[in-house]
Amino acid sequence: MNPLADAEIAAQALAAGWWQAQSVIPLGVGHIHATWRVVPGDPQRGGAGVLQRISATVFPDAEALMDRVVRVVQHVTRRAPGWVPDLLPTRAGDWFHRHDDGSCWRLWRAVEPARTLQSLTTPDQAEAAGRAFGRFQALLADYPEPLPDPVPGFMQLDHYLARFDAVRAALPDAEREVSVPAGLVALIDARRDLATAFRERNRVIHADCKVNNLLFAADRDVVVCVLDLDTVMHGHWAWDAGDLIRSAAADPQGIALARFAAVVGGMRVAGTIAAEPLAWVLAPRYVTLMLAIRFLTDHLEGDRYFRTDYRGQNLARAQAQFDLLGAFERHERAMLELARRA
Ligand SMILES: Nc1ncnc2c1ncn2[C@@H]1O[C@H](COP(=O)(O)OP(=O)(O)OP(=O)(O)O)[C@@H](O)[C@H]1O
Ligand SMILES: [Mg+2]
Repeated sequence: MNPLADAEIAAQALAAGWWQAQSVIPLGVGHIHATWRVVPGDPQRGGAGVLQRISATVFPDAEALMDRVVRVVQHVTRRAPGWVPDLLPTRAGDWFHRHDDGSCWRLWRAVEPARTLQSLTTPDQAEAAGRAFGRFQALLADYPEPLPDPVPGFMQLDHYLARFDAVRAALPDAEREVSVPAGLVALIDARRDLATAFRERNRVIHADCKVNNLLFAADRDVVVCVLDLDTVMHGHWAWDAGDLIRSAAADPQGIALARFAAVVGGMRVAGTIAAEPLAWVLAPRYVTLMLAIRFLTDHLEGDRYFRTDYRGQNLARAQAQFDLLGAFERHERAMLELARRA
C-alpha cells in the first residue's frame, strides 16, 4: 500500500476511535507495527499522540495483546509515573479500536521532547540503556499475574535449537550437506550447553531490549521512557541483559569493552541483579547463538520469517552472528574482569 493511502486510513481510524487529526506523520523504522505521530485538530484534546496499527501477522489476537499491555502499563505507572507512555482510551472506553476493515489500532500519549537512538555509540548511552531496562525489570519484579509467552518459545535457546534440528533432519540427504556446512554444525554442537545456562524464569523481562525502544531526553544521554511493551513476559533476567549487551557491544573492531562494562554497571544496579560475573559474559553468547540459529533455520525454511532482499541473506546474517559469537568468546577474559569490577 502506498504511504499516502496508509496515512489516510490511519486518519480515518483515529477519527473513528478517538478524534479528528490536524496532522498524521509517519514515525520510526517500524519493523512490527505501523506508527504515526498525530496531532488533534481540537487543542482541547491535549497534545500529540502516537498512533499504531497493531501488526496482525505478529499479533493476530489484538485483544489478548492489549489486555497484557494495559496491565503492564498500569503496574509500571503506579510505581513510576511516566516511565512507560500512557495509553489513551477510545471514545467507547476501550484500549484499542477495531476499524471497519478489521485492522486494530491503539493510541499512546506522545512523550516529547525526546530522542530515539538507533544504536548506542558511547559508554554513557550504554550505561543509560542498561539502567533503563534494569529499572524496568525491577519495577515489574513483583508483577502478580501470568504473562503468556508473546510467541511460543520466544527467547528460549533450547526451543530454537530443537526447531533447527527438526528442520535440518527433514531436508533430503543431498541437500542437508550443502545447506549447512559441516563446520557450522560442529560449531553449533560445541555450544549447545549454552541452552542450559539460563533456563529458569526468574524475572519479568522486557524481551525486546533494542535501543530504539527507549526514549532519551532531548539534550542529555538520560532515558526518560521505556517503549514497546508487546513482548513483556516471565523469563530470565539474562535474556534481556544478553540482548542489550549483544547490540551495545558489537563493533566492527571486535567487542566494545567500554560499552559492555557500562551496560553491566547500569543494569546490575538499577535492576538489583545479583549474579555471578560469568553470567554477564555468557548472556550475550546465549542471545547471539539464538539469533544465529533463528536466521539459519529461516534460511533452511526458505526465508519465511525474516524479510530478505536476496536468497542467502539469512545465511549471511547467521554467519555474522556466529562471527560475533566468536568475538565474545575471544574476549571472555577481559569481559570477565570488567564484569567483576562493574
Ligand atoms: N509514546 C511515544 N512517544 C514518542 N515516540 C514514540 C512513542 N511510542 C513510539 N514512539 C516512536 O516510534 C518508534 C516505534 O515505536 P515501537 O517501538 O512501539 O514500534 P515497533 O513497530 O516495535 O517499531 P520497531 O520495530 O522499530 O521497534 C519508536 O522507536 C519511537 O521513536
Ligand atoms: Mg520497537
